Amino acid sequence: MNNTILITGATGNVGSETLRCLMQRPDRDYRVCVASRNPEKDRQRLPIQPDSFVRFDFEDDQTYAKALRSADRVLLIRPPQLADVDRYFKPLIRVMSNVGTKQVVFLSLQGVENNSLTPHHKIEKLIVDSGIPYTFLRPSFFMQNLSTTHRAEIAERNEIFVPAGDGRTSFVDVADIGEVAAMALTDPTHLNEAYELTGSETLTYSEVADILTDVLGRPIRYTNPSIPAFIWRKRYKENNPLGFTLIMVALYTVARLGKADGVSDTMQRLLGRMPRTFRAFAEANKSVWLR
Ligand SMILES: NC(=O)c1ccc[n+]([C@@H]2O[C@H](COP(=O)([O-])OP(=O)(O)OC[C@H]3O[C@@H](n4cnc5c(N)ncnc54)[C@H](OP(=O)(O)O)[C@@H]3O)[C@@H](O)[C@H]2O)c1
Repeated sequence: MNNTILITGATGNVGSETLRCLMQRPDRDYRVCVASRNPEKDRQRLPIQPDSFVRFDFEDDQTYAKALRSADRVLLIRPPQLADVDRYFKPLIRVMSNVGTKQVVFLSLQGVENNSLTPHHKIEKLIVDSGIPYTFLRPSFFMQNLSTTHRAEIAERNEIFVPAGDGRTSFVDVADIGEVAAMALTDPTHLNEAYELTGSETLTYSEVADILTDVLGRPIRYTNPSIPAFIWRKRYKENNPLGFTLIMVALYTVARLGKADGVSDTMQRLLGRMPRTFRAFAEANKSVWLR
């Protein structure tokens, strides 16, 4: 269908912010369709309603064609638990080609071009090889990891428990990513571009803890666990799946080795303003860490 944007991952971090930006434009000349595993449930859950819903499940290839035919541009967000690119994304991108998708905006990962082991690297390659016009968004570490994945340890134990050592991380706010995604989906000048999206500062987790201490008005500590101590607590004490625990170790080892600190001015150039700082993010979201 012409002039319709399909949003995957609309209930998640970046999808919900993209949906918000797209629906809030007063003079919009496009329609927005949400690709959902459960349209009835998501109609109740989403605070911002799209023009329509279509049933779509990455794990059910029978849902691909109908969903993709309902739009000409797609925001593609890989759910974190789906790492098998050949199984899910290869067929999906083949269907995109078959139905004539005019653009795919893919939520990728900072540094992906040098990391062929990540699913994002393989997905980017499939998209390029398919010939579908694309925009790759390559963000750094989401500030929202502190308000979602690590929310409980901060709210309940006043600690940040990640094995990142003293490495610096360039955090980014998903609201800023959503704004760029909406821009990319509505302005053809972003076709066949790859954008490294970061905030404007790098922080150690001690500095993050200091900011949270200041904003919340109670002491928050960065406990800086060793990798074995982290694995023991996450896997065996809290009973998280091994896969989840190992992915966390891999992500925070990157930070520990000082390789998560790349800062780019692309976000500022695209938005025409500075990206949100971690302090501003913490102040806007402080209620999530209250006990
Ligand atoms: N966290 C970071 O710091 C970071 C940094 C850079 C890149 N990334 C990348 O960002 C991506 C995740 O984005 P996000 O954080 O915005 O997502 P998210 O908040 O984790 O949400 C995942 C979304 O995927 C949907 N989903 C899950 N399984 C599905 C399925 N089988 N079929 C259809 N939809 C399904 C979920 O819908 P339901 O409501 O149905 O569950 C939800 O809307 C990952 O690829 C990650 O690697 C993350």
